[in-house]
Amino acid sequence: MNHILLRHRDIPDINKLDVYKKNGGIDAFKKAVTKMQPTEVTEVIKNSNLRGRGGAGFPTGMKWSFIDNKNWPHYVVANADESEPGTFKDRELMESNPFQFLEGLAIASYAVGATAAYVYLRGEFWQVAAFLDEKILEMEKAGYLGDNLFGTEYSLKIFTHLGAGAYICGEETALLESLEGKRGQPRVRPPFPPSFGLYGKPTIINNVETFANVPPIIANGADWYKSMGTADSAGVKLFSLSGRVRKPGNYELPFGTTFRQLIYEYGGGVQEGRPVKAIMPDRDRRHCQRRLDHQQDYSFLQA
Ligand SMILES: Cc1cc2nc3c(=O)[nH]c(=O)nc-3n(C[C@H](O)[C@H](O)[C@H](O)COP(=O)(O)O)c2cc1C
Repeated sequence: MNHILLRHRDIPDINKLDVYKKNGGIDAFKKAVTKMQPTEVTEVIKNSNLRGRGGAGFPTGMKWSFIDNKNWPHYVVANADESEPGTFKDRELMESNPFQFLEGLAIASYAVGATAAYVYLRGEFWQVAAFLDEKILEMEKAGYLGDNLFGTEYSLKIFTHLGAGAYICGEETALLESLEGKRGQPRVRPPFPPSFGLYGKPTIINNVETFANVPPIIANGADWYKSMGTADSAGVKLFSLSGRVRKPGNYELPFGTTFRQLIYEYGGGVQEGRPVKAIMPDRDRRHCQRRLDHQQDYSFLQA
């Protein structure tokens, strides 16, 4: 299967800008900025039925359309906190296919009229942040970020920002507080970020994986994206599979894939051929995982 998000598994060195470009990279951003109105970009994302990959599954295009056009400037923020134990998909995207994520962030920024975008990374991702800084610089040097992009009046800068290792800073309003240099505590909502976000200005926040879906949708169209997945959840999803399976890792699969397929077909089943006794999907996993980590650390010290 040709991957849509994990393209680095099919195309070696796609984390180099020239290789990314040769394989169609940046075309979607250029198309958006030079051939589409910002509202048209949002319409395509809306029609694609893309839903947020940060947990709540909120329709992405609808979120972008909520941006308050009476209050400026606008900001876009990528949520790269990924603190969920057992989740390591955003990290793989940023480390191995960084330009697709950054291009998606740039397209979103154009769609909502933001000239500054931020990538908020969990504190432990300092190496990823340094790597992204290099990639952003490469894009600036190539003229894909900065002033008057593709000969238009549109300008964009992207900045990375490291958190200090607090799980709650993955929650979007705590993230904004932290990005502003304050203690990372959630805000009372409403108002929601599209009307009152970073520095009190209209802000769109999406997950890294959500942004990575944007360039292929703009390049291939909403119908192409909707042809994958289910009626309610279009497209492909990254599943981080860990625990006692034979082949743990990230799997890019269409929505509608069952746990049975994920564990047996892709994960190779349980180690030593044992039966599955329990599965922890996503968020519920974190409490037990922490206890397990703690027990393991503790027994290690005793040994
Ligand atoms: C306690 C808590 C932790 C969260 N952690 C993350 C996270 O690490 N990454 C993420 O993208 N969203 C996280 N979220 C969801 C964000 O608040 C927000 O819904 C998401 O970034 C929106 O992006 P999306 O629409 O692309 O899904 C968390 C939410 C809560 C309540």
